[in-house]
Amino acid sequence: MSRIRLYLSKDTSSCAAGAERLAEAWRSRFDVELVRTSSRGAFFLEPMVERDSPDGRLAWCQVAPADLPRILAGNGGVPVSTIPFLAKQARHTFASFGVTEPLSTAAYQAHGGLAGLRAAQQMSPAAIIQEIKTSRLRGRGGAAFPVWKKWEVAAATTADRKYVVANADEGDAGTYCDRMIMEGDPFRMIEGMLICGRAIGAQAGYVYCRQEYPTATACLHDAIQAAEAAGWLEIDGRRFSIAVVSGAGSYVCGEETALLESLEGRRGVVRARPPHPAQSGLYGRPTIVSNVLTFATIPNILARGGAWHASMGTEGSRGTAVLQLGGRVKQPGLIEIPFGLTLREVLDQFGQGMADGARLKAVQVGGPLGSLFMDAQLDIPICFDAFAKADAILGHGGIVVFDDETDMLELSRHLMAFVADESCGKCVPCRIGSLRAREILETVQAGQATETDLALLAELGDTMKATSLCGLGARAPYPVLSALEQFPVEFRSRVRS
Ligand SMILES: Cc1cc2nc3c(=O)[nH]c(=O)nc-3n(C[C@H](O)[C@H](O)[C@H](O)COP(=O)(O)O)c2cc1C
Repeated sequence: MSRIRLYLSKDTSSCAAGAERLAEAWRSRFDVELVRTSSRGAFFLEPMVERDSPDGRLAWCQVAPADLPRILAGNGGVPVSTIPFLAKQARHTFASFGVTEPLSTAAYQAHGGLAGLRAAQQMSPAAIIQEIKTSRLRGRGGAAFPVWKKWEVAAATTADRKYVVANADEGDAGTYCDRMIMEGDPFRMIEGMLICGRAIGAQAGYVYCRQEYPTATACLHDAIQAAEAAGWLEIDGRRFSIAVVSGAGSYVCGEETALLESLEGRRGVVRARPPHPAQSGLYGRPTIVSNVLTFATIPNILARGGAWHASMGTEGSRGTAVLQLGGRVKQPGLIEIPFGLTLREVLDQFGQGMADGARLKAVQVGGPLGSLFMDAQLDIPICFDAFAKADAILGHGGIVVFDDETDMLELSRHLMAFVADESCGKCVPCRIGSLRAREILETVQAGQATETDLALLAELGDTMKATSLCGLGARAPYPVLSALEQFPVEFRSRVRS
């Protein structure tokens, strides 16, 4: 009897949704060949089981162990290509998700892997940087800085050693695309790091991965070993080593200079800039620190050309936005679409509205430092410039939807307390400002504050924005002040006259 091949994700989120339970239940079946893939990111459908058909993959969603007979009989599966949540996306960086085995070098190459690196190997470093410039790729970690500019500076700086560092700290609440890449398609990030290494003349790379990602860390170790064995870890005939370093659970260590301090074995404290890491970074050498998603975006650009990448998106935001939708929506998950759709369209078309009949109160985009949007503000296009104009950030693409049960004062206090806890302490506006702001919010909660305290909170926020050393202190006031502005009654009804 021939075995039927079934595909099941091994991604941490899929396992949390029950994928591992299925694998366990079906492990001893002699008639099933279980191939463990990555997840397509439609987490509301997990655990999702797929099998091949003449018309492409068929999927069974929210599967329980007892569903196996009908899957083997081929009853009830839907073509993956017709699942609206997936069909409406433009999957480029995430094209292999759910399809390939993450740690198979053969599968990676069979699906177009290494084409970017091979192209880069035929180009001069200056030509590689020109291609990235043509692509108009901006960093996906939060600051949205043009990638080519950093590469050009690092390439032009003379040094005995240069480094490439993948920022895998992924600290923003509600974001997980870096984790998915490291678990689900790690060679893509490694390929991006190698291309960067060749462009700037680096000899070594590091992946700084948050400790809370044990599975991603293990996958990275295995992927690096497999890449090494396959002879991929070299640039122009010289070895390019990649090491994985675990962070110690600090949010500010995602900030690139604090990350470098931590990587050098010191406490994660922000460095004053200039010099920027591209000039003087790890151990004082030119270093490109880029987000995992940024590196994973690069192979396609080299393989398909910068113009291809620049042809997608909006004027200032080219390529695809990788959004991670969470909170009180019906359909949470990972979405890759060209920049330009509005926030409301994303919530409606992909989130399919609110879960359990709840009512939307606010949407926070860009992690704990991101501004809050009310319903009336959701028609904003998803692109860096529109968000900057609205005093907001896209950050790492996290979108968290809050329902009308949310206490905005408590949310504000929680966010400010988070910053007070996570501040590295180097600059006074962040270290003291976040503490004082949290105290004011607690006074409001206790019914002890006056209007003067709210005015002080706004003034303190302005000072933090203008004078903090890094984005932690500078961005911390935005969600709080936007909550105060948009939900004034929730604050003002609790102050003494
Ligand atoms: C408080 C704080 C936390 C940050 N956390 C991260 C993070 O977890 N991952 C990340 O890629 N960038 C993070 N950044 C942004 C980095 O400083 C830096 O801009 C980024 O790694 C550069 O990569 P990119 O050009 O690919 O975006 C953070 C910034 C700040 C201020």
